Amino acid sequence: MQKSGLAIIAVTAAVSGWLVWQSIKPATAPAPDGAQPGAPLATVAVPELTGDALAGARIYDRSCAACHGANAAGQAGIAPPLVHTIYRDRSHADFAFVLAVQNGVRSHHWSFGNMPPVKDVSQKEALSIAAYIRGLQRANGIE
Ligand code: HEC
Repeated sequence: MQKSGLAIIAVTAAVSGWLVWQSIKPATAPAPDGAQPGAPLATVAVPELTGDALAGARIYDRSCAACHGANAAGQAGIAPPLVHTIYRDRSHADFAFVLAVQNGVRSHHWSFGNMPPVKDVSQKEALSIAAYIRGLQRANGIE
């Protein structure tokens, strides 16, 4: 009797541990199964861009798109989409873009490897890029 009680506790602990892990584990898969390297990882609707967001889009295309892909949709095997709920404002404030540009990013959410610092982008330009990414996120239902 006592043994089966312990077994039930062990199974319950294992199952709830697994459930917690499923709910908190980071999105580690860089590419959906079978995706070609470089294939976009998100479908991104592009809104009409004006002002700072438009300026940011130009800088993004010059300095970030080689990794994060056209329209920040990510690229299989290279870098994650920035149009993704992970990067919404409340978890990654605009200043996260400045820090990423200045210091680079140690791989933590995905398994693409580290992002190196981007030397040709100023703090002001990084904030314009953030405005551009916010515009894309909002147009794709990520608030
Ligand atoms: C050489 C490829 C590469 C380039 C160029 C690059 N990134 Fe990244 N970036 C990455 C990778 C890979 C990650 C994911 C790191 C991880 O696993 O969390 C990342 C993550 C980020 C993050 C998330 C930071 C965080 O706090 O989690 C931001 C913001 C970002 N990049 C912005 C930019 C911007 C803006 C540019 C252009 C100025 C840029 N990246 C250029 C590869 C790149």
